[in-house]
Amino acid sequence: MQHQIIPGRLARVVRAKGASSRSSVLQSRTGGVTILEPADVLETLESARDASAVILDPWYNRGVGGVRHNYDEWLGTVVDRSFDVADHVYVWGFPQIVCRVLDKLPPKTELTAWITWYYKNCPSMIRGWRSAQYTCLHLSRDGARLYPENFMTEEQQERYREGKMRYIPGPPSVLEVPLNIGFVGRGEQTGHPAQKPLKTIEPLVKMSSKEGDLVIDPMCGSGTTGVVCNMLNRKAVLCDMSEEYTALARKRVLENAGQ
Ligand SMILES: C[S@@+](CC[C@H](N)C(=O)[O-])C[C@H]1O[C@@H](n2cnc3c(N)ncnc32)[C@H](O)[C@@H]1O
Repeated sequence: MQHQIIPGRLARVVRAKGASSRSSVLQSRTGGVTILEPADVLETLESARDASAVILDPWYNRGVGGVRHNYDEWLGTVVDRSFDVADHVYVWGFPQIVCRVLDKLPPKTELTAWITWYYKNCPSMIRGWRSAQYTCLHLSRDGARLYPENFMTEEQQERYREGKMRYIPGPPSVLEVPLNIGFVGRGEQTGHPAQKPLKTIEPLVKMSSKEGDLVIDPMCGSGTTGVVCNMLNRKAVLCDMSEEYTALARKRVLENAGQ
């Protein structure tokens, strides 16, 4: 698959401080990750083409990030536009909110998996049930290629290459990954209020792309997708509407490049 970002937009790649004419240096130091200037998600999607996957992790319309009165309509449009760019689209959200996306899926797309992120270490603020799950919808174009073989061990991969595997064992659709809080995931924590652990993004990238493919995260927050894509040798284009988070993502991706 060809990877392409429309050139006018590429010219606006965010550069490291004091590196106004060193975009090639920045590109190599960040591996294959490009971080665009702050922009709205729809603007980013308009300028992107031919990605394997788009990861959408918007504010949740509850709690941090505030409430948008036309949230369902807005998210539906964002999902629609994402399918102009990629065969796989992931949508994160609270189950009771994000489920409404399924009522208006674009034509010729389907729910490939309802993924649940299960965490046991959310501190209890209220009397009653303690939050322990979050949802990620994996949506795909009909017939889009999946890569469950990316989850196999080396031994399994060898047997697969030799044609000795009768079936490919896919990963579970429940991701048991603790929240990065307190002493948990200290090395990952950036201070972004809704940062996802690397282990929740990694399986999404693995299931929907191969090495060298492009993944787009147009609401990238702290840049988790960029770090994962560097680790897995995928290209990535990241953007966020917030200047503060764009700078945070750039710093984080630079620090993690090549690790
Ligand atoms: C849930 S956070 C993403 C967290 C990210 N996955 C991470 O691991 O750090 C949502 C992000 O979306 C950004 N955002 C919200 N609305 C946006 C919009 N209309 N266009 C672009 N970015 C947006 C926010 O600034 C915020 O950083």
